Amino acid sequence: MRESNIKPAGSATLTVKGKNYELPVLSGTQGPDAVDIRKLYDQADLFTYDPGFTSTCSTESNITFIDGDKGVLQYRGYPIADLAEHSNFLESCYLLLYGELPTKTQMAAFEHSITHHTMVHEQLASFFRGFRRDAHPMAIMCGVVGALSAFYHDSTDITDKRQREVASHRLIAKMPTIAAMAFKYSVGQPFVYPRNDLGYTDNFMRMCFSVPADDYKINKVLSKALDTIFILHADHEQNASTSTVRLAGSSGANPFACIAAGIACLWGPAHGGANEAALKMLEEIGTVDRIPEFVAKAKDKTSGFRLMGFGHRVYKNYDPRAKAMQIQAHAVLDELGLHDDPLLKVAIELEKVALKDPYFIEKKLYPNIDFYSGITLRALGFPTSMFTVLFALARTVGWIAQWKEMLEDPHQKIGRPRQIYTGPTERKYVAMGSRK
Ligand code: SDX
Repeated sequence: MRESNIKPAGSATLTVKGKNYELPVLSGTQGPDAVDIRKLYDQADLFTYDPGFTSTCSTESNITFIDGDKGVLQYRGYPIADLAEHSNFLESCYLLLYGELPTKTQMAAFEHSITHHTMVHEQLASFFRGFRRDAHPMAIMCGVVGALSAFYHDSTDITDKRQREVASHRLIAKMPTIAAMAFKYSVGQPFVYPRNDLGYTDNFMRMCFSVPADDYKINKVLSKALDTIFILHADHEQNASTSTVRLAGSSGANPFACIAAGIACLWGPAHGGANEAALKMLEEIGTVDRIPEFVAKAKDKTSGFRLMGFGHRVYKNYDPRAKAMQIQAHAVLDELGLHDDPLLKVAIELEKVALKDPYFIEKKLYPNIDFYSGITLRALGFPTSMFTVLFALARTVGWIAQWKEMLEDPHQKIGRPRQIYTGPTERKYVAMGSRK
């Protein structure tokens, strides 16, 4: 079990209908203090109201820290820019899972374990055949990852520390294999088995792009770019899909079912589906001269249109990942001789126009991680429908680290929010014949 690092920081007085209630104030190592309302309902018969949880902490965590005003993102205290520049995805997985950067021996053991879990049960291949070929790869991911609990009964007992670790390694190892299978199935090509002599991201690129007639030649620049993109997407505090995984896990559901729930939530265009939506938006804009028309539409409330890849619940300043994503976009496009990519031109100009527009300035809307990822992933050869699958592949380690932390939290209990009820008060049943 994990010990709490929360410190008392005085108290807050709440006065309701002339009565005072003293509520403890709690402090962490970074970020805002929090008012502890755990006893409020018992003491004052009061709920708090916070749809979307904009001001609510659902947990204590020591995994990822975000400061939305300063554009700060740290995994276990390490700034994302440092990890993007100096680390690699598998090392960042170790850091997120275990809390420290690994020693050489620890990294070798971790990499050996992940490498030897990359294959999936052969029976799983026939599971894919139940889908139509044009099924969205995210629909396949929801189904297949949820089905893993039907194959790996020996790592579904969440009370067993060793089984939790095996399930964690299995999920991190198998997500690239399943994601590549979802891609191959959607393009009608045969599945490609993982190889133990290849690194994590090289293996994934080969499983996606190798064909029996022509093995894929690893391009180290492209693999490095994708590996960095995975680091940028690995975890992000208590976002919607992570909160979904935590809530599912709080009922004792097995890890495979919890991750499948996270995948389903991530699919939404307001969340992980934004990278697919952002690229489609750039394609719809098409040329720089049509940008004003779309910016005007995004400012018109009645249009229901939003600039995809812009805005963020937490970042009210630049999303630090967007900067790192832009660097990877240029690296990939330069490597492939696509620096004249028309969509990149539209994206750069759209960013410039939006950041000068009073509407976006006033509402603090900046490009987020999804704004440049679509251009980069398309250049790497992935169809738009695979973009959120890649996000899910990378975010699996974050979901798992948060799920593990939740289970090791002594204060953990099933998540069960309340409501302000505004429906009908009690009334008598009316027989059919007497209804008007
Ligand atoms: C991710 O939470 C995370 O950490 C998520 C994530 C992660 O790593 O897990 O970072 C990944 O999901 C990034 C976000 C990807 N989504 C998009 O790019 C979709 C487009 N963006 C939005 O829909 C929106 O900005 C959200 C959903 C991201 C954030 O929404 P909020 O914080 O709830 O803000 P809001 O919807 O209340 O908007 C505030 C105002 C509104 O105007 P008013 O009602 O105040 O007049 O800003 C406007 C909105 O209309 N607005 C936008 C806009 N985003 C918000 N207007 C135009 N274009 C946009 N993109």
